[in-house]
Amino acid sequence: MTKKRVLSCIQPTGEIHIGNYFGAIKNWVNIQDRYDCVYGVVDLHAMTMPYDPHMLRENTIQMAVDLLACGIDPEKSILFIQSLVPQHTELTWIFNCVASYGELSRMTQFKDKSEQIEDGSKNKFISAGLFTYPVLQAADILIYRANFVPVGKDQEQHLELSRNIAVRFNNQFGEYFPEPKPLLTETSKVMSLADPTKKMSKSLGEKHYIGLFEEENSIRKKVKSAVTDTGESQGNSMSPGVENLFNLIKACEKQEPYEQLLKDFNQGQLRYKDLKEVTADALVEITQPLKEKKNELLKDKAGIEKLLDDLSGKAREIAKETLFEVKKLTGLPVRNL
Ligand code: TRP
Repeated sequence: MTKKRVLSCIQPTGEIHIGNYFGAIKNWVNIQDRYDCVYGVVDLHAMTMPYDPHMLRENTIQMAVDLLACGIDPEKSILFIQSLVPQHTELTWIFNCVASYGELSRMTQFKDKSEQIEDGSKNKFISAGLFTYPVLQAADILIYRANFVPVGKDQEQHLELSRNIAVRFNNQFGEYFPEPKPLLTETSKVMSLADPTKKMSKSLGEKHYIGLFEEENSIRKKVKSAVTDTGESQGNSMSPGVENLFNLIKACEKQEPYEQLLKDFNQGQLRYKDLKEVTADALVEITQPLKEKKNELLKDKAGIEKLLDDLSGKAREIAKETLFEVKKLTGLPVRNL
């Protein structure tokens, strides 16, 4: 039986943090045998917000290296760089004419991100790319005719739009695209250490996240200063900060210490110092081998670039087939493809 295809992508935001890892990447690694996996680093998406060209190029390679270090296996999966598969942008144009202005206007991420762009009163610039961002995302998914997309809550609306585009395309031009469905797997949502009511994110600032490849000392320091509770006793309910540390221990699969600490908590005997120590130890243990793998990979930068070119070439082959069929269906010339 042929395997179903899974597609997912990540923006090149710089070094992966433990929230990315436990919330998504670890799962990407785990499902590589069960599915035909295609993963992408979406540099074109990163251009929708103000950015620095030099950083974009650096971060794109960095993200690809990080994914390989985490265990994305080029023998099993395709790992591509989005801009190296130009068919994505071509399909985006075609989809721009299938998606409606109205549905794009309802995308909550567009509203959130356009508000994030600093209001320098006169200089507030919101690119049209930010508006059509979800159409490019639909092209990422549909160009590989993916069956499943592992996504978090924040991307559900975009996936729904991708499904709508697929259905509308099929109705208008003929049945071609499978409807991509969310792949629901158990992942851990990691919250900010300094403000555990918010999801861990680099944009919140240095003390809010832990980089997956951060030095041991720095990991320990950040865990030590993690917000636990706000002072007042809360009876038996766990404060968000404490819950976050418990979740991290669980995400690191430290079942025994987890249960012991939980028992302490339930008996009102938990010492935050112990909780933090166990958390820090678990994180250091999990991240150590990944760091070593990354250092190993970085010894051969030219080799990495060649690997990414080759894998993007594989992605291009699939993308070309799709575009050929799409052009046939939509009335565009298909000579010389
Ligand atoms: N928009 C996604 C994010 O910010 C990244 C992304 C781009 C993506 N294309 C995709 C995710 C296709 C899944 C499938 O996280």
